[in-house]
Amino acid sequence: MRLLITGAAGMLGQDVAAAATAAGIETLALSRGELDIADPGAVEDAVSRARPHVVVNCAAWTDVDGAESHDRDALAVNGAGAGNVARAAAGTDAWTIHVSSDYVFDGTKREPYVESDPASPASAYGRTKLAGEQEVARAAPSAHTIVRTSWLFGAGGPCFPATIMRLAAERDELNVVDDQVGCPTFTGHLAVALLELATGAAAVAGTVHVAGGSPCSWYEFARRIVELSGLDCDVRPCTTAEMPRPAPRPAYSALGTERGDEVPRLPNWELGLERYLAVRALAR
Ligand SMILES: NC(=O)c1ccc[n+]([C@@H]2O[C@H](COP(=O)([O-])OP(=O)(O)OC[C@H]3O[C@@H](n4cnc5c(N)ncnc54)[C@H](OP(=O)(O)O)[C@@H]3O)[C@@H](O)[C@H]2O)c1
Repeated sequence: MRLLITGAAGMLGQDVAAAATAAGIETLALSRGELDIADPGAVEDAVSRARPHVVVNCAAWTDVDGAESHDRDALAVNGAGAGNVARAAAGTDAWTIHVSSDYVFDGTKREPYVESDPASPASAYGRTKLAGEQEVARAAPSAHTIVRTSWLFGAGGPCFPATIMRLAAERDELNVVDDQVGCPTFTGHLAVALLELATGAAAVAGTVHVAGGSPCSWYEFARRIVELSGLDCDVRPCTTAEMPRPAPRPAYSALGTERGDEVPRLPNWELGLERYLAVRALAR
């Protein structure tokens, strides 16, 4: 089996490429410099040359706040770009696995969002991610899996645990929002699940939710990060209103699934965090 990964230099893309290589899968991992998914001709060329069985689209505009003032640029990647990938893949009979986000939901629910819940994004980023889902479904109606995930952290990029560890080492106390709840997801765990979907170990069409188990708030996540990394810092809860950001975040965006046993289940985020800290320590 041959796999093509777009956005392969990103946090998730790196872990998918590493997991695929470790599993002995023939993999073409293309960074943004090697393939710009906003360029339809380049995408078509790359896919028709590589002839993959599956394309995993990890490329995205992920600057959530920046998307508020650059929504057209974000849409060109997250919307049209996602469609370019799925169209090129469908044109060569390849399957598309497209990564989407919990930010397609507005956050008003108080129990985990399932696949059939109506999407209603509150931010420009969320709107572009929803547009990408629609583009993918239109371009490859019977040959795609859209994987919604959330609160990614991993060794291959800047992420919340890395930021908290840096700040906790510099400060005696830290305020972290306690009124946003979601499912932190370790990219190393998600990468394995994406490969299960790619190889048919878990063959699921349409939209699925795949995220770390057990929702928590950013404050609870931060406390555990500080505790596990042995830092001496007082982590205190605060509200979103006390920490204003350009883009609104969903107050609640935990993801659950109604798709039954065929959907890969990820370990609890605390196990993901332990794994992340171990990988980080090894890399130093
Ligand atoms: N991070 C999260 O918390 C989170 C949560 C839910 C879902 N997701 C989704 O998960 C996926 C992976 O995100 P991530 O956290 O790994 O983000 P990331 O580290 O920012 O990786 C995204 C990659 O896409 C590349 N890219 C941007 N524009 C591109 C283009 N036009 N053509 C090709 N590549 C392009 C970026 O390159 P540059 O760095 O050079 O721009 C980057 O390497 C995305 O679909 C994201 O929406 C992320």
